[in-house]
Formats: sequence, C-alpha cells, structure tokens
Amino acid sequence: MMAPTVRILDNAQGVAEAAADRVIEAAITAVAARGVFHLCSTGGSTPAALYRALREPSRAARMPWAATQIWFGDDRFVPRTDPLSNVFPLDAQLLSADAAGTASPLATSAVHPWPTTAADARVAVGAYLAELHAAGVPHAQTGFPIFDLVLIGIGGDGHCLSVFPGSALAAEGAPVAAGVPAPTHIEPHVPRLSFSLGMLASAREVLALAPGAGKADALARIFASSTAVVDAPARAALLPTATWLLDSASAARLPA
Ligand code: 6PG
Repeated sequence: MMAPTVRILDNAQGVAEAAADRVIEAAITAVAARGVFHLCSTGGSTPAALYRALREPSRAARMPWAATQIWFGDDRFVPRTDPLSNVFPLDAQLLSADAAGTASPLATSAVHPWPTTAADARVAVGAYLAELHAAGVPHAQTGFPIFDLVLIGIGGDGHCLSVFPGSALAAEGAPVAAGVPAPTHIEPHVPRLSFSLGMLASAREVLALAPGAGKADALARIFASSTAVVDAPARAALLPTATWLLDSASAARLPA
C-alpha cells in the first residue's frame, strides 16, 4: 500500500495549478498511448480551482480536449443543476464560456455524470457501469474501470470518494459501486453514489488534492501506519501510483 509521492505546495492555488499541470501531462501521455484520456474527477470544494486553472490559455492550449472523457468517482444523488452536485462546478468552470468569453473547449457529450435522475441508486449504478463499458473504458479483472487519472479530495473524517469511515464500501471485496445512505456526520446530508476503494488501485494514476488547515488532522491519521483503512478510507490512496498534493497548512501535522 505505501509510497505515494507527496508534494507540499504553498497554498490551495498552488495545489490547483500543480494538479492542472499533472492532468495535462497525464492526458498527453494517455492520448499518445491509447488515443483517449479517461479522467475520473471528484466532488467537494477542491476541483473548481483546478478546472479554472485548466482554462487558463497557456494550459488550455496544451490540453487534448477533443480526446478527453470525464467521469466521476462519486456523486451526491441530486440533479446535476443542484449546487451540491459534483458535476455542478465542472459545468460552471469547464462547460461554460470563461470570463473572457472563450467558449468551452470540451464537448458536453464528453462529460459523464452519474445518472442521478434514475429511479433509485441501484438503477443509477447499473446504468453508470454500463455507460463505462459502452464508452470503451478498459476494465481490470476485478471489474473496476481503469481510468487514466483519478482525482480525489479528502474529507476531514479521512474519507475519499463517498467511502466514509466504517463503511462496508471500505472492506475488501466490496462491490464495484453502490448507493450510499446520506452521511449523518458530515455535510451535505444527501445520499451518494460511489465507487468502492478498489477503483483507486486499478487506476493508472491517482491525484489526491488536500489543501487547507482543515485537512491537517485527517492527513495525520491517514499517513499514520497504525490507522486502518476502514477508519480512514483515504489510506487506500497511499499507492505508488498516487501523488498527494498538500499545502503547508494541510501538511502541518505530518512527520518531516
Ligand atoms: C464528495 C466527494 C468527497 C470530497 C471530500 C473533500 O462528493 O463529497 O467526492 O470525497 O472530495 O469530501 O471535499 P472538499 O474538497 O469539499 O473538502
């Protein structure tokens, strides 16, 4: 499980810019090798700044947008137009014209939200897994999709995706994806749809974004070898294929 790369940037903006640069490098590599870049994005407050950084002209010009497909590791079971949706920031920052009026470089059809208008979580999960296969995303023998790059954020309780401490989704052999009841200990209190942790190990690369003082305690627990994955599910992203982008505030409680 261990040995991810850890980078400590100055602040949240530094994390967003480093993440955007890494997304572009991964995209260029994937497109050169396979003709397509399957990015699995995340929710929460972190990705908006990353999306904005990708729109900056010097970066946007390098990104192979036409060969990019964007998926989500989890979502809240709310419509895409709800500000709580994990797709909402992407729609606002990547699929709309930017501040200078430049049209989106990304086709609407390249964004694959979880079908949160489905009748229930079971139907939504089945439809999403079918869509992944139909789009030609390669899959591991374990059944997990092999994304070129998976972005994750880290919760103050040590969760990632919508796999919360104590969740059955944190256990080995848990299903590939599932509906998750609304968490009561962390906002927002809405049901989720999420991959289980095994999808992280199947990805070609994982980028964990965790800036800000609010993540310092969680990171100290995640990086402590005595912590069990079930108690801090983001430990499952301590992979050799992972890069953790922290800032000086979030890294404050990590050993040197
Ligand atoms: C979600 C997530 C979740 C998120 C973390 C960090 O839907 O809530 O995908 O895993 O990434 O909770 O969220 P913040 O970036 O808001 O701290």
